[in-house]
Amino acid sequence: MTLTALRHGATPHATLSHVPATVIVGAQWGDEGKGKIVDLLAAESDLVCRYQGGPNAGHTIVVGDETYKIRQIPSGIVQGKASAIGAGCVVDPAVVIAELDELEARGHTTRNFVFISGNAHLIMPWHVALDGARERKLGSLLIGTTRRGIGPAYADKATRIGIRVQDLLDPKILRQKIELAAGEKNVWLERVYGLDQFDGEQVVNAYLAHAERLAPYVADTSLLVDRALRAGERVLFEGAQGTLLDLDHGTYPFVTSSSPIAAGAAVSFGIGPNRIDEVLGVAKAYVTRVGEGPFPSEIAGPDQERVRELGGEFGTVTGRERRCGWLDLVALRFAVRVNGITSLALTKLDVLSTFAEIPVCVRYRLPDGSETEDFPAHQTDFHHCEPVFETLPGWEQHLDGLELPPAARTYVDFVADALGVRVTLVGTGAGREAVLALP
Ligand code: IMP
Ligand code: MG
Repeated sequence: MTLTALRHGATPHATLSHVPATVIVGAQWGDEGKGKIVDLLAAESDLVCRYQGGPNAGHTIVVGDETYKIRQIPSGIVQGKASAIGAGCVVDPAVVIAELDELEARGHTTRNFVFISGNAHLIMPWHVALDGARERKLGSLLIGTTRRGIGPAYADKATRIGIRVQDLLDPKILRQKIELAAGEKNVWLERVYGLDQFDGEQVVNAYLAHAERLAPYVADTSLLVDRALRAGERVLFEGAQGTLLDLDHGTYPFVTSSSPIAAGAAVSFGIGPNRIDEVLGVAKAYVTRVGEGPFPSEIAGPDQERVRELGGEFGTVTGRERRCGWLDLVALRFAVRVNGITSLALTKLDVLSTFAEIPVCVRYRLPDGSETEDFPAHQTDFHHCEPVFETLPGWEQHLDGLELPPAARTYVDFVADALGVRVTLVGTGAGREAVLALP
């Protein structure tokens, strides 16, 4: 496909291998610009599936003059694509309903386009209260969560006292489960955190009302995906957050409570891992992180502020300032490994356009003085490692989205060579069309 075609509204999908099931995964700490890449590929997909997380995510999609900030519903809905929320997600019904209402008000059809797994777990009001209370209690040891109730909802799922989306379909069971949960949570809220209790009856009534609105959207999303794949349809799986926020493989405890890595897509949707054909990693041309935790390539000095301002690096959900770092190839190599990334989208390259020199972290120096290209398996090494930078020349010119200046091309090739993965897409600006497909 020519770049001209791309600028005139075609999508870069044709430059990627044309396969039925693709996972799009964040290769850093989230906020890599996945929403825009999903949006681009959604145009060529039949079904878009969100596989983990909840309203802690925030995808910003710019279409012409319109900006969409979506937290729960897969961003494919903006393209009018069937969109599914998998069992591995946690769902805040009030947030989903607000998004359904807004999408409908802006002319998008949601009935028979949005499908929510009956096995996904519901975020309850006490989850939100407990998330905030626990963070406050942790003081300086806080995780820096989005305080949307994510951790407590997943914890209840694991302890098997969670309330699921399918419980909304049975008022009697819903009431029973809410009363049981409220009884237990109220003790915690009052005795451990000194907070007000929830009135079980009020919560029951609120969730019964949610149930009425959401019932038509509850579906068997495993069957849905299986049928789509058997029919030869193209299914796109989108993760929220990113690899280093993965509960098992990320920088624990500074992680989210689900599995953003690509394998999470198979678990969440109840399909075999062999059904997934391609894994597209999305990485920013630099790195950001919100919340606490070690961050080796974090920029020291005023350049951090400069990158934050140029990149507009403030949280979609919380408005918090994002910490900014230079590109970290050690962490990216890890992301390639744990996700099985087959190609990479490098977003927001334009943010670096005014820098004369651009450091890239190529290795970590460990406390014992040795250097490594592999992500440290032990947290102590990671917490105390120092970044080893190589400095690449900047291009110091505007990226027009037609062709990369030689120094920008060198930057991209440097990344691809270091990782042994093709970079197929490069972000050159904020708009939907500002993505360059590389031959
Ligand atoms: P939680 O997911 O709200 O429990 O937050 C746990 C950690 O994940 C915190 O460091 C959050 O800042 C981070 N996090 C959660 N969602 C996002 C996201 O969409 N982008 C970036 N970081 C996130
Ligand atoms: Mg985000």
